[in-house]
Amino acid sequence: MTGSCLTHLECSACGAEHDAGEVNNLCASCGKPLLARYDLAAARRTLTRELLHARRNDLWRYAEVLPVRNKENIVSLGEGSTPLVRAARLGAELGCGTLYIKDEAGNPTQSFKARGMALAVSMAKELGVTKVAAPSAGNAAGALSAYAARAGIEAFLFMPRDTPRANIIETSFTGAHVRLVDGLITDCGAEVARGKEAEGWFDVSTLKEPYRVEGKKTLGYEIAEQLDWRLPDVIVYPTGGGTGLIGMWKAFAEMEELGWIGSERPRMISVQAEGCAPIVSAFAKGERFAQEFSNAATIASGLRVPKAIGDFLILDALRESGGTAIAVSDAELIQGARDIARTEGIFACPEGGACVPAVRRLVSEEAIKASESVVIFNTAAGVKYLDTYTQ
Ligand SMILES: Cc1ncc(COP(=O)(O)O)c(C=O)c1O
Ligand SMILES: [Zn+2]
Repeated sequence: MTGSCLTHLECSACGAEHDAGEVNNLCASCGKPLLARYDLAAARRTLTRELLHARRNDLWRYAEVLPVRNKENIVSLGEGSTPLVRAARLGAELGCGTLYIKDEAGNPTQSFKARGMALAVSMAKELGVTKVAAPSAGNAAGALSAYAARAGIEAFLFMPRDTPRANIIETSFTGAHVRLVDGLITDCGAEVARGKEAEGWFDVSTLKEPYRVEGKKTLGYEIAEQLDWRLPDVIVYPTGGGTGLIGMWKAFAEMEELGWIGSERPRMISVQAEGCAPIVSAFAKGERFAQEFSNAATIASGLRVPKAIGDFLILDALRESGGTAIAVSDAELIQGARDIARTEGIFACPEGGACVPAVRRLVSEEAIKASESVVIFNTAAGVKYLDTYTQ
């Protein structure tokens, strides 16, 4: 056994409890995302800050606060434990004294989507699922296909036709059934919804499936440990579906209950592309739920999410933390990726690049002070975007 202290699933909106021993998607009463809950009092007896370093060097070191119960169901390619790189040269250019880049490019399939998909596929295996399906902006498909291959689970993936070629090719190499859709990720999601009953697919769309967020939350655990248990003042997250941001926010609450950190929190900041900024627009209007963004268009494929089912969870975290949401243009985010590469030697993805103009603007508006510590993300390897970068 893994030592998982998972107790049940709880609806993030109405609080209804669901049995974690069964296959679940959204809340049966209100249709909102379910979140995994743990017996954290039990977890803190064996999961301690001091003992972490003696554990395996991937995200499975947090076993007590992950859902997989049987070790044999862990489907792993070594995800997590990525570097938090101190970016002094980029920080100096941006007027930001203490800047870090959480560089997720070293994950299996070269993106942070591996974290979520390792958990989703492991849980699918634990619950006896044999076919999974998902819509994807690209990286999630690559990751799901890889873990499904390793688990011997059949994967059905739907991606917009203009998804970066690397994502489409990696997904077909790793054996998934790939369908390219003339439309956006929301249209791909509709294809999954249409086919799933007849085809017997388990829908692993982010936050419609309860465990991808559990993988993504390990970003928060890692950042806390890498900063010696003092969270940064600001976290700037390139936001599509928002799963990483929601996950980190959940991780901070869990770590407080584990006695690892206090009640302080970073200001959480969502960055989106101007051509697809539903969260920015809802934040500005003071709304809790975001409207679907019409005619969504950006070359940052991972940010091309016109409607996120976890919108209220993202917006709640931004507001509770005193953060904000900010939109940057495609030209700015590409330049941001170039800036990361030129100053720090990290060939970043366009989504990661988006963090740079966001920090620059927030510093100039004095919403970030030079004395504050800031974490940005390179969520995938730049090499996956050769077609985007050479357009
Ligand atoms: C490289 C990259 N960055 C960021 C995102 C957005 O992540 P999230 O859905 O957690 O907001 C994605 C999603 O596809 C992505 O592929
Ligand atoms: Zn509910």
